[in-house]
Amino acid sequence: MKRGLFITLEGGDGAGKSTQIDNITRFFEEKGLVVVHTREPGGTQIGEKLRAILLDKNNTEMSPVTEMMIYASSRAQHVREKIIPALERGEIVICDRFVDSSIAYQAYGRGLGDMVAEVNKHATGGLSPDITFWMDIDPAAGRARASRAGDLDRLELEKLDFHYRVYEGYKKIAESEPERVKRIDASETVDEIRDKIYGHLDDLLARID
Ligand code: TMP
Repeated sequence: MKRGLFITLEGGDGAGKSTQIDNITRFFEEKGLVVVHTREPGGTQIGEKLRAILLDKNNTEMSPVTEMMIYASSRAQHVREKIIPALERGEIVICDRFVDSSIAYQAYGRGLGDMVAEVNKHATGGLSPDITFWMDIDPAAGRARASRAGDLDRLELEKLDFHYRVYEGYKKIAESEPERVKRIDASETVDEIRDKIYGHLDDLLARID
């Protein structure tokens, strides 16, 4: 493989992304490929510091534009320090969230609109995932799962109508880019979800071979 593959997972909180990231990792490692598993916000030392600021539930005064730009800053560092170098080495980069999260949460959830895509063009330098899995879960069900899993962070604590706007954002992204974004019904069993994801990955590999 000349250049690696960039795979992202998206969705509301409590959608079961981590379990499927482990499955995707296994899929590629069994083929003898090197997998880099990373996340946003975060993924670098600088990014993890920004993550702590973003998720701190005491930061109630953070303005939506500030929030959007910190997510974009974390991404700008991540793309340049970690993602592009790994892709250039021919590795498989699996990233828990990427720019679609900013479109869903900041453009739709916070209502910032087109500004978010514009700023993120600079943050990503035009890098886009080869495939994105949108783990589709009803926001109320997702929140219930997330709160059972532990303490809720600043974003998770937002009212349910915020999370419904985020959900609408993901729906729009999936509708507008069906080639890249694969909707996965997160209410199915873990094994059913894994099999569907593996099917999409087989198709992707057949396409690029
Ligand atoms: P995580 O809990 O899935 O790691 O993500 C942290 C939170 O940050 C999650 O509630 C989604 C939110 N988020 C945004 O609002 N915008 C973004 O660009 C990213 C990457 C995450």
